[in-house]
Amino acid sequence: MGGTVNQGMGARRSSWLAGAAALAIALAAACGGGDKAPPAETAAAPDTLLPAPAESLLTQDSASVSIRRGMALLVATRDSLPSHAGNELHCTSCHLDKGRKPFGNPWVGVANRYPAQWTRTGTTVTLEDRVNDCFRRSLNGKPLNAGSAEMRDILAYLTWLSKDLPKGPHKGLGVDSIAPIAPDTVRGKTQFAMYCSRCHGADGQSGKNLGIVNPGPPLWGKGSFSIGSGMARSRIIAAFVHHHMPFDAPGFVADSISYDVAGFVLSRPRPDFPGKELDWPAGDAPADLPYKTNAQAKGVPPKP
Ligand code: HEC
Ligand code: HEC
Repeated sequence: MGGTVNQGMGARRSSWLAGAAALAIALAAACGGGDKAPPAETAAAPDTLLPAPAESLLTQDSASVSIRRGMALLVATRDSLPSHAGNELHCTSCHLDKGRKPFGNPWVGVANRYPAQWTRTGTTVTLEDRVNDCFRRSLNGKPLNAGSAEMRDILAYLTWLSKDLPKGPHKGLGVDSIAPIAPDTVRGKTQFAMYCSRCHGADGQSGKNLGIVNPGPPLWGKGSFSIGSGMARSRIIAAFVHHHMPFDAPGFVADSISYDVAGFVLSRPRPDFPGKELDWPAGDAPADLPYKTNAQAKGVPPKP
C-alpha cells in the first residue's frame, strides 16, 4: 500500500455497552477515501500512544516560535484566520488533542506520508494540498497561499509533530473503523437528545450558549462541515463518535448507536461542496459517500 495515504484501521476494544465480544473484527479503513486496508501489523488498540514530541521541548528559537504559531492557527482557526474559515469549526474540532489523539484523525506522522497518490483526486497531492482541502471542505473556507507565513507555520507544526515517526503508515491513523450497520435515524434522533445535545445543543447548532466547559461545535447547518468533508461519510463520523464522543465519556456509545446518531446527524441539512462530483475520478469512490460522482454516473460501482 506504499504511496496511498491516510488509512486508519485497527482491532479495537468493544464498548462496554456493546457487551460481549472482546475484539471486533476490524474492517477496511473508514478513512482516506476508499483506499485498501493496511496490513495487519498496523492494527492497534485505540489507546495506542503515538510518539509525538512533547510541547515542553519547544524553546524560544525561531523554529519553535513558528511551530507554536502553526499550532495556534489550527486550534483557534476562525479567530486567527477569519477570512479562511467559513463555519464555526476549528481544525482541532475533528483532529483531536491538537492532532495527537490516536484514531482522532491524528497529524502525528502526517508530514512523512506526503507527497502521495490520492484516490480522491487521482493525482499526487502535497501536505499543503491536504491542509487546504480541509480549509475548503471541512471549514467551508478559503485555501491559504502555498507560500504564506500561515501555511509555513502550519507545516512547521505538522512536520515537528511527525519528527519521531517513520515514513509511511503507522498505528493510530484516521478514525479506526467499525462494522457498518444500517442506521435507524428515528432512533438516532432520540439518541442525539440523550447523548449529544447537552454539548452540541438541542438543535445541533453548538453548545456555546449552554454555559458548559467544553461546548461542542455545530453538527449540521451552515456552521458545520460541508458534504464534501470526510466527516460527512457515515463510517468516518460513526467511528469518530464511537471512540471520542461524548467528549467527557468516550467509549460510551455502542456501534449501533454511533451509526443511528451519525445517520440522524447526516440526514440534517449542511453546506454543499461544489465540484464534489469530480471526486474519485477512477470510479473507486467509497460506499458511504453521501453524493454521486461523475465516474459513478458513468456506471462504475462504488467500492464495498
Ligand atoms: C461533553 C460534551 C460533548 C458531548 C456530550 C458530545 N460532544 Fe461531540 N464534541 C464535543 C467537543 C468539545 C468537540 C470538539 C473537540 C475539540 O474541539 O477538541 C466535539 C466534536 C464533535 C464532532 C466533530 C466536530 C463537529 O462539530 O462536527 C462530532 C461529529 C461530534 N462531536 C459528534 C457528537 C455526537 C454524535 C455526540 C453524541 C453521541 C457528541 N458529539 C457528544 C463535545 C461533546
Ligand atoms: C469536520 C471535521 C474536520 C475538520 C474541521 C478538519 N478536518 Fe482535516 N480531516 C478530516 C477527516 C475526516 C480527514 C480524513 C479523511 C479525509 O481526508 O477526507 C482529514 C484529513 C486531514 C489531513 C490529512 C491527514 C492524513 O493523515 O493524511 C490533514 C493534513 C488535515 N485534515 C488538516 C486539516 C486542517 C489544517 C484543518 C483546518 C483548516 C482541518 N483538517 C479541519 C476532518 C476534519
